[in-house]
Amino acid sequence: MPLQVADGVFWVGAIDWNVRSFHGYTYTTPRGTTYNAYLVLGDEPALVDTVAPGFEDEMMGRIRELIDPARIRYLIANHGEVDHSSAIPHVLAQAPEARLICSRKGTESLGAYYPQLWDFQVVDTGDHLDLGGKTLSFIEAPMLHWPDSMFTYVQEERLLLPNDAFGQHLATSQRFADQVESWQLWDEAARYYANILAPFSRMVLRKLDEVARSGLEIATIAPGHGVIWRENPGQILEAYRRWATGEAKERVVIAYETMWGSTEKVARALAEGVADEGVEALLRGLPMADRTEVVKELLEAKGLLVGSSTHNQRILLNVAAFMEDLKGLRFTNKIAAAFGSHGWAGGAVAQLEEGLREAGLDVMTSDLAVRWAPSAEDLERAREFGRRFAREVRQALAEPVAAHHGTEA
Ligand SMILES: Cc1cc2nc3c(=O)[nH]c(=O)nc-3n(C[C@H](O)[C@H](O)[C@H](O)COP(=O)(O)O)c2cc1C
Ligand SMILES: [Fe+2]
Ligand SMILES: [Fe+2]
Repeated sequence: MPLQVADGVFWVGAIDWNVRSFHGYTYTTPRGTTYNAYLVLGDEPALVDTVAPGFEDEMMGRIRELIDPARIRYLIANHGEVDHSSAIPHVLAQAPEARLICSRKGTESLGAYYPQLWDFQVVDTGDHLDLGGKTLSFIEAPMLHWPDSMFTYVQEERLLLPNDAFGQHLATSQRFADQVESWQLWDEAARYYANILAPFSRMVLRKLDEVARSGLEIATIAPGHGVIWRENPGQILEAYRRWATGEAKERVVIAYETMWGSTEKVARALAEGVADEGVEALLRGLPMADRTEVVKELLEAKGLLVGSSTHNQRILLNVAAFMEDLKGLRFTNKIAAAFGSHGWAGGAVAQLEEGLREAGLDVMTSDLAVRWAPSAEDLERAREFGRRFAREVRQALAEPVAAHHGTEA
């Protein structure tokens, strides 16, 4: 059964229950995802976005339950990424009358992925499309999260179709946010923001301000992945504002990797020190703890402690992957420090500190490069540093948050 999202607007997407990673293996999706496509039934029907490869038939089947696909007059591609665009050639083959609509930048990404497509109708912010009984308008949203990204708005229904923004990788049989367990919903919404949108936090804030200023009324937000925000859609807008400003809790993530347990001993002592001050410490050994998950936990943490032993003069590989991720994500308003064990010349702690700075975090230098297995004094120093770091976290949280932002692309 096609599912009604608003009067004359239907969800015709697909549910990918079993997908467990995205973007190669950079993002784990333990709860699967959905690819949301929406059919807007004006006198001239419009399809907004499509689905990932392999799900064309599921989408076409849902469309066919409502109309003959040949009647589709407009195909709106809010975003060129393959998980939303792959079925475009498929739809156009069955809807010879359909015009393909995208942002100016969309002609580049879509034109490259699908060289057979050439006849684009470009729209800019503020453009309208009268379907007869339904009016679409468009809002460009560059870098949320690609240059081509845009939002489609169904005026009569006050329905925002923002594609990847406000989405969650969450496969469920329910289609609405108010129908699913809220701890799962918010876990996935935060995981999505932390891992996909964090680098674009400034643009997120600007877009939220622009939408607020424009007075655009939003009754429902139907994103490109996961469930639809129909009751109080303002809650996801507010959450994005909090995440984009770097609002955080008295929480410290301690992420580390170890060969023979020495670095881990330091990590545990740090965690004890942090907890002594009444600040939450999350001890995360890599790669046992999933990197995507740790990044999500970091989203609302004020502090990060990263540890690695020295291996051939370098940091260990799973911590290296975590650091590379951090440098791209550029979280705002966080403080950090590094620690680790080495046998002779060392190097890991200095490398971590440099990486943390490159990631835009405020780095506190530590004296926690220990040799071989940590001595009792080493561990006491680590506990003491943990306490100091926790106090620093608390103090930083007392300061106004907008004071400094991480660097931006
Ligand atoms: C394969 C291997 C390579 C290592 N390379 C270095 C090195 O380049 N520089 C150094 O100071 N220590 C090096 N070490 C020593 C470790 O850093 C040292 O054993 C440290 O205490 C390990 O801490 P961990 O138990 O937390 O992994 C190496 C150890 C191994 C097993
Ligand atoms: Fe995307
Ligand atoms: Fe997507």
